[in-house]
Amino acid sequence: MVKICCIGAGYVGGPTMAVIALKCPSIEVAVVDISVARIAAWNSDQLPIYEPGLEEVVNQCRGKNLFFSTNVEKHVSEADIIFVSVNTPTKTRGLGAGKAADLTYWESAARMIADVSKSNKIVVEKSTVPVKTAEAIEKILTHNSKGIKYQILSNPEFLAEGTAIQDLFNPDRVLIGGRETPDGQKAIQALKDVYAHWVPEDRIISTNLWSAELSKLAANAFLAQRISSVNAMSALCEATGADVSQVSHAVGKDTRIGPKFLNASVGFGGSCFQKDILNLVYICECNGLAEVANYWKQVIKVNDYQKNRFVNRVVSSMFNTVSGKKIAILGFAFKKDTGDTRETPAIDVCKGLLGDKARLSVYDPQVTEDQIERDLSLEKFDWDHPVHLQPMSPSAVKQVNVVWDAYEATKDAHGICILTEWDEFKKLDYKRIFENMQKPAFVFDGRNVVNVEKLREIGFIVYSIGKPLDPWLKDMPAVA
Ligand code: NAD
Ligand code: UDX
Repeated sequence: MVKICCIGAGYVGGPTMAVIALKCPSIEVAVVDISVARIAAWNSDQLPIYEPGLEEVVNQCRGKNLFFSTNVEKHVSEADIIFVSVNTPTKTRGLGAGKAADLTYWESAARMIADVSKSNKIVVEKSTVPVKTAEAIEKILTHNSKGIKYQILSNPEFLAEGTAIQDLFNPDRVLIGGRETPDGQKAIQALKDVYAHWVPEDRIISTNLWSAELSKLAANAFLAQRISSVNAMSALCEATGADVSQVSHAVGKDTRIGPKFLNASVGFGGSCFQKDILNLVYICECNGLAEVANYWKQVIKVNDYQKNRFVNRVVSSMFNTVSGKKIAILGFAFKKDTGDTRETPAIDVCKGLLGDKARLSVYDPQVTEDQIERDLSLEKFDWDHPVHLQPMSPSAVKQVNVVWDAYEATKDAHGICILTEWDEFKKLDYKRIFENMQKPAFVFDGRNVVNVEKLREIGFIVYSIGKPLDPWLKDMPAVA
């Protein structure tokens, strides 16, 4: 029986390994983590992450060929293939701070593998890492090898949160990078054999190590670039009377462009896009490619501009002040169908509104009060952009009330900001909501989920990203 161990039981390690276990009953999969709480949650009925379909997969395999454990060393030493899926956040201190990936967790995992291994191993980079990380890992392992042979593979993960299980069941491609030596090719084949249990052969691509590592950063940069492109257009739509949904539809009909990932929004969030682009920018700078670095940096700058623009729109529409006004925040997660709030645009929007002394009432179906409070209290690292850099003062955070119902959140509110595209926000009884709000009642839709015309008929003043402006808003100061 092949044994797999995955170091890191997070958003990637957990679902990825659960799907491998489900699809490969002949493989024993252990997912290990240093976080006792996370492993306890994986072993309980309350999984540590919310992901549609995940619970069903875990329930089918846990205790059979899928195990979650804090006994990292035991499982690593017994495994044939070790996936490393630890976090690789942006460095906040020292050389490259604000851009470079922090590989502390990766390095410590590699050193631990070298310490405890007693047999040959295939070590798979599952985390997103800078190009050439495999070389560094190889050095750590071989310099401490005690005669053990290691093959390093790069197998970046392309799943998106909220659709992780679907993405893992039916990936567009599985990418495996390895050394172009006979041993390297043998290792690639061993990993291909795992995926071949359910992924068609023509979707399993193999490349050299550096292409695989760079392709992951490139894919995220391209995806984020599409969003910044459509968001930049949304500003121009508002200025000209064009409708961004119509523009996206027309543009996306070109088969060379395609229809996906062209939804204008309050800005992209999530743990990956910003971090990976900053990492790409840093790698370009280190290679003396200043123009290339600046090109990609612009994707993040436009994202910050979009979040700022949204806050300014809210404040300017409401007579240039939200001081003391209750604003309902519908949705805090960075996208629907996840409870993840990492880099969610809601953090910047809420901080912007709190900076103007608003009172916030926040509702998200999957994000806890503790999480929201933590997110709004923490100092955000300044990479070099001006968005709301200061940590919130404790008194500002006191202006935030977290509730478990959209109707409660909007009661007596002056305005509503929709910041996550949860399906339930499309189906709310907006008539009832309108009746219980202060007048004039505003809706600022940062995800284009509401029916603008219907809401205007009810009496709301509606702002929807990139849509023709409400006559009311046209008379308000211009927003840049
Ligand atoms: P995460 O923070 O949810 O999980 C990482 C886990 O690794 C944590 O539970 C942490 O306790 C554990 N860990 C850290 N150091 C460890 C060590 N030395 N030994 C054992 N456990 C250790 O992170 P994530 O979202 O799963 O992301 C993991 C990697 O995958 C990152 O590089 C990320 O960029 C990449 N990625 C993430 C996504 C996504 O949607 N979240 C998608 C594709 C790729
Ligand atoms: C992303 C990549 O899609 C995935 O391939 C990679 O493995 C990890 O990073 P994720 O961040 O989980 O996945 O979600 P994604 O669906 O890409 O959304 C990222 C952000 O972009 C969200 O805030 C989402 O709301 C926003 N978005 C997405 C838009 O604003 N408009 C769109 O058209 C699509």
